[in-house]
Amino acid sequence: MHTLASNVRLASRMNRLGTESAFEVLVRARALEAQGKEIIHLEIGEPDFATPANIVEAATKALREGWTHYGPSAGLPQLREAAAADVARHLGIPADPSEVVITPGGKPIMFFAILALVEEGDEVLYPNPGFPIYESMVRFVGGKEIPYGLREDHDFDVNVEEILEKITDRTRLIILNSPHNPTGGVMGREEVSRLAKVLAGREVFVLSDEIYDRLIYEGEHTSIAQFPGMKEKTIILNGFSKTYAMTGWRMGYGVMNTDLAKQVTLLMTNSNSCTASFSQIAGVEALRGPQDSVDKMREEFRRRRAVIVDGLNRIPGFQCRQPHGAFYVFPNIRQTGKSSRELADALLTEAGVACLWGTAFGDSGEGYLRFSFANSVENIQKALERIEAWVKKSL
Ligand SMILES: Cc1ncc(COP(=O)(O)O)c(C=O)c1O
Repeated sequence: MHTLASNVRLASRMNRLGTESAFEVLVRARALEAQGKEIIHLEIGEPDFATPANIVEAATKALREGWTHYGPSAGLPQLREAAAADVARHLGIPADPSEVVITPGGKPIMFFAILALVEEGDEVLYPNPGFPIYESMVRFVGGKEIPYGLREDHDFDVNVEEILEKITDRTRLIILNSPHNPTGGVMGREEVSRLAKVLAGREVFVLSDEIYDRLIYEGEHTSIAQFPGMKEKTIILNGFSKTYAMTGWRMGYGVMNTDLAKQVTLLMTNSNSCTASFSQIAGVEALRGPQDSVDKMREEFRRRRAVIVDGLNRIPGFQCRQPHGAFYVFPNIRQTGKSSRELADALLTEAGVACLWGTAFGDSGEGYLRFSFANSVENIQKALERIEAWVKKSL
């Protein structure tokens, strides 16, 4: 966990807040670019595609029509309805608009769910390696961190036995993320079903981060909310950033039981007031309009996945599994003899390739790097050539 130093006398809780290193690396990479270096960006987790034209058109029209004012904290009714219908269609479970809260990005759902549910000392299970904001938020609210592993030799799927062993009477929340950032692992239906059977009888909530649910290359997406007794205790996190290449629009949503949705809405009122109104009108078009751009993006990602996996496996010291979802590879780099941080730093400054070190996703990420393949095949190939040349020269 990296904390940021400050000379200002801050509330002590700020010492417990972590960060997302992707943004930090982006800043360093941009600084190197300002000095004239050419950097290939494989660090940041966002599609390089433009937002589909029908969505941009809907937003432009919304702006002209005056969707430029405050709206309800929980989100515009038409978008809550569209999101509920989308969840119901994709997961095959009932979902009511009153269970949906629209937020500026999917990320606030993590913050709000943890803030609303976790008391000081409550235990929260979360993946390590995993999205760093889970751990950061759990620490911030005074929860007890209980990381669980995702292992390469288990194809980065969840090991249900490990989770079950870690559940105690103090467990309040379990965070699942499938498809998974940073490993690209996808939870199998069998695993989710076994977990659901145990959790159904317990007073435990699940935060199910499904932001990459449309980016699956093999198999199918499974949500724990699909299993008996689980919907009421699951907060589904989803959004527009990855599926529709809308990271900069800041729009996402959570689906949760109505009572919790009211509390999360209160947190919205206390923080953001509401999500941008014209973005939400465009969000309705994203969910209800043609979906062919989503399929096109996925097929392009599939093509890039093959290029980066094959290329990394040709580099001495790198071993890379084929991820089943999202747009990240998480190669094992132990045989290079370098720590993941050292290697990522050297690749940035000496080879001009920006990536993330595995420990940016928790201690268990040591020995791995994360590369995003949300970049063109040409750039990925160029990055691979640079890494290979650097490895041959420097290791
Ligand atoms: C696992 C995971 N969840 C949630 C998010 C948040 O996405 P956003 O807030 O852009 O919707 C991200 C973004 O990188 C992510 O990787």
